[in-house]
Amino acid sequence: MYFKKSISPSFLPLLLLMLVAGSEAGGIAIYWGQNGNEGTLADTCATGNYQHVILAFLSSFGNGQKPMLNLAGHCDPYSNGCTKLSSEIKSCQAKGIKVLLSIGGGAGGYSLVSTADARQLAVYLWNNFLGGKSSSRPLGEAILDGIDFDIETGNSQHWDELAKFIYGYSKRGKKVYLTAAPQCPFPDASVGGALKTGLFDYVWVQFYNNPPCQYTSGDVASLEDSWKTWTSSIPATKIYLGLPAAPDAAGSGFIPVADLTSAVLPAIKGSTKYGGVMLWSKYYDDQTNYSSNIKNHV
Ligand SMILES: *[C@@H]1O[C@H](CO)[C@@H](O)[C@H](O)[C@H]1NC(C)=O
Repeated sequence: MYFKKSISPSFLPLLLLMLVAGSEAGGIAIYWGQNGNEGTLADTCATGNYQHVILAFLSSFGNGQKPMLNLAGHCDPYSNGCTKLSSEIKSCQAKGIKVLLSIGGGAGGYSLVSTADARQLAVYLWNNFLGGKSSSRPLGEAILDGIDFDIETGNSQHWDELAKFIYGYSKRGKKVYLTAAPQCPFPDASVGGALKTGLFDYVWVQFYNNPPCQYTSGDVASLEDSWKTWTSSIPATKIYLGLPAAPDAAGSGFIPVADLTSAVLPAIKGSTKYGGVMLWSKYYDDQTNYSSNIKNHV
């Protein structure tokens, strides 16, 4: 890069500052959907704290099951009660926020048993949540920005095929984002193979509930080692530091704001793959204001 002589030298420091800030600035991704007392989707987007909102979860699918959404107390998908979210999804997107659907979750109740099963789920997701058509779209006509894999069953089969099938739909116009929330032990037992495809845009690694690779008070080494493994091994566009937004949000791995900003973020932000912080979840973020307290540091 060079600067033409016509650029005033007094503008250079500002320009350099902007470039530096631009290369390091991260975003915050938040999971929403598993607690009816966490505010609406529209409220969530209106905070201005998040660049990605991940709807949790499509919790049943595969092996012959009818795919079913579970958004806890927010709405009842069985009586088609979640279509009201369509206008909220569009208002989030109008603010530049990407809204994704997470498939899976910690409760189980899902699996992929064959290549045909993976293909069938991809077709279902396209027709019911993405750019396709169906008479029974659970979230109405809004077109989501992509699909998040939060697969915690420990079965690694066919998720790579699902990723390839979903990725194929990007050729039909609007890009379909692929994201994933693996656990920090590397490689992930469920989506480790899928992540190797290189098709994922954002990977929010769960650095919690996993003591060998998470932060423990005053000791950033385990997390930093794990971060280096993830960022050097996974061909995703960006890697995020996935964290609980409150001590109660996970069994272990909560990082106090002061520790995050003074020790943890400085250890990982130098990576070109650094994308920001993912939080579980909006409900817990409301309890602590974690996102508000960290957003100027991510
Ligand atoms: C979070 O922010 C809200 C609004 O500013 C405030 O009322 C609340 O006390 C804060 N909660 C915590 C735990 O800091």
